[in-house]
Amino acid sequence: MSFKLKPDRARKYKALLKQYPDKRSLALPLLHMAQEQEGFLSGDTIKGVAELLDIAPGLMMETVTFYSMFYLKPRGKYLLQVCQTLSCSLAGADQMVDHVAAKYNLKVGETSADGRFTLVKVECLGSCGTAPVVQINDDYYEKMVGDKIDRVLDKLS
Ligand code: FES
Repeated sequence: MSFKLKPDRARKYKALLKQYPDKRSLALPLLHMAQEQEGFLSGDTIKGVAELLDIAPGLMMETVTFYSMFYLKPRGKYLLQVCQTLSCSLAGADQMVDHVAAKYNLKVGETSADGRFTLVKVECLGSCGTAPVVQINDDYYEKMVGDKIDRVLDKLS
């Protein structure tokens, strides 16, 4: 098995094991930990997590591909998740996506050549009143109209 949790995450995993009678219930927390550690979920990582939890690798892959927050390939330093649901779409999210794609010469789902930005579309981010919304890594950027997206992205190193 080539995937191995680093010591701090291994300690956290052991602590979580005590809280769950069935270790298969740790699939999502452990996948998150593995993704945090590795940056994305490779086939080896998914297999390693499956082995830790005694889950069939195919079943683990089904779990990974069901959720949009798991990544099967490396992503940029900044993950741009643009909401594509109705309020944001009507408020200009589609134009924001087109603008970012053209500015960094990438398509939705791709990473810019400099490795800074990965652009994806997601469903409602739960902030419809401040549409259009983009989540950049863990932060929300709201009312992203006009050139606001340029000002935000230009500040990110
Ligand atoms: S529709 Fe975009 S946050 Fe809800």
